[in-house]
Amino acid sequence: MGNETQMELDLRGRDFLAMADYAPEEIRYLIDQAIELKRKQKAGEVYQPLKGKTLGMIFEKSSTRTRVSFEVGIYQLGGQGLFLSKNDIQMGRGETIWDTAQVMSRYLDGIMIRTFAHRNVIELARGATVPVINGLSDQSHPCQALADYQTILEKKGKLAGLKIAYIGDGNNVAHSLMMGAAKLGLHIAVATPEGYEPNPVETKMARDNAAKYGGQVTICRDPREAAEDADVVYTDVWASMGQEAEQREREVAFKGYQVNEALMKHAKPDYVFMHCLPAHRGEEVSEGVMDGEHSIVFDQAENRLHAQKAIMAATM
Ligand code: CP
Ligand code: NVA
Repeated sequence: MGNETQMELDLRGRDFLAMADYAPEEIRYLIDQAIELKRKQKAGEVYQPLKGKTLGMIFEKSSTRTRVSFEVGIYQLGGQGLFLSKNDIQMGRGETIWDTAQVMSRYLDGIMIRTFAHRNVIELARGATVPVINGLSDQSHPCQALADYQTILEKKGKLAGLKIAYIGDGNNVAHSLMMGAAKLGLHIAVATPEGYEPNPVETKMARDNAAKYGGQVTICRDPREAAEDADVVYTDVWASMGQEAEQREREVAFKGYQVNEALMKHAKPDYVFMHCLPAHRGEEVSEGVMDGEHSIVFDQAENRLHAQKAIMAATM
């Protein structure tokens, strides 16, 4: 992708539910906007296109990064955020998502939701007349992927042609990364134990997009095969939110899938290590890799702020 990514794209009113919904040039546009908003913020330039606007933030699950970065992000853009724990609103007592969406659209200018079933995100977007942003569902985590590709571009100076090794659970984070790689022209090699592969529907969608846009999606068993010559090595927790009861069983299944110094010998000498966080040190990643010189996890976490500001500024 060349200079055409610099043009202004009109994304007003659009939801941000999944990487699948955005064309490669739209994803690249949001990344470029995120980089520009980051520059503005570091330079102390005030930029408040969302003055007087309010983002509602519905949380059904815990969060550190998503909550803080959305709340600070909307504030920096001139608006305000409203934290809505599911248990404190009537949705937690059975008011339908549709009705909630209708009512909230009368007050708010945008809604972010973190939930379990992805159909909740879709239902909210269907009922809302304001943009809805997926702040993580069991199926996907597109805000994370957008910030991740921003981070990779900043660190490596390019996206197309790079190899990402994703080692661990074929979960929400893996799905969004796969779709991003497919659309942006990267090769993503996913290594998981048997039974923990990415959802086949997500894999097929990512592969179809890869065929169209020049990316590549491979799924394998052996973490060394995935890590071989990787520019980026990525992992996530073995038990996601809502899977706490499977923790023990998963620790057994994922034995041999830890991202550690021995495995990293297979990656390129200048590889970067990424993790969406929160990390379980000593489980999916060794302390040494997490704190090592290749780790860019906190730059990655910071970029959640800039990437989500780009989404909000563009859609709201
Ligand atoms: N990576 C991420 O979404 O972190 P939180 O769960 O803390 O929001
Ligand atoms: N896969 C993890 C990501 C947390 C940001 C989870 O869903 O809990």
